[in-house]
Amino acid sequence: MSPEEKAATITARKGAAPIAALTCYDYPMARLLDAAGTDVLLVGDSLGMVVLGFPDTTHVTLAHILHHLEAVARAKPQALVIADLPIHTYDTPEQALETARALVAAGADAVKLEGGIRQAEKVRAITADGIPVCGHLGMLPQRVLEEGGYHKKGKTPEQTRAILEGAEALISAGVFAIILESVTPAASREITAAIAVPTIGIGCGDGTCDGEIAVATDLLGSFPWFVPPFAKPEADLAAATTAAAKRYIARVRSRGGR
Ligand code: KIV
Repeated sequence: MSPEEKAATITARKGAAPIAALTCYDYPMARLLDAAGTDVLLVGDSLGMVVLGFPDTTHVTLAHILHHLEAVARAKPQALVIADLPIHTYDTPEQALETARALVAAGADAVKLEGGIRQAEKVRAITADGIPVCGHLGMLPQRVLEEGGYHKKGKTPEQTRAILEGAEALISAGVFAIILESVTPAASREITAAIAVPTIGIGCGDGTCDGEIAVATDLLGSFPWFVPPFAKPEADLAAATTAAAKRYIARVRSRGGR
């Protein structure tokens, strides 16, 4: 299946079977998550926080994403592989297209960027080149410094209208789906009902969108230093890792000195 056909299968899920998406940053995890049947693997710029140890996503560069995307692509996933355009790699339509092409050359089926109306020209430049684009609205992590923190969106009718206008601009520019991040459940439901492409929510409440995306480390419990309130861990890899390391250290030390 071509990347455009793969993206179209996600669009076709609107209002039908919910889309299950996960972030992914390396080869073994891509093989495991893909074998589990996830619909989407997102090489997201959350990479900066949960893998590279930066305080937020504004430190992530194109080189970082390319390095991890190439590892994910080596797993040859069945899932749609989406890669994030990092901050300041899509300041103009020309730069957005150049970055999107670099991501596709590294193995992405599709790309994602943050923002609504002001990004529509950039989305159009990329989709006109045949590269599927996923939008990202609501709380935008790349704007954390301007906004002075992470704030829930869709709390007022004006905020909800702004997200809806952004969504319509992105849809006119050709996005195949839109991620909604930290939008109130009521606003998420309203937006999901109003727009023609699937919404994929994170921090938007259960069953309010056409699908969900989870940061893999939140799901697996492998980044215990920050766990968002909406995370629903299905494992505790942090505890399993520490316990395994302690058993190894004890085993080695129990052999005594020479
Ligand atoms: O970078 C990322 O992981 C994301 C998700 C939070 C949607 O954009």
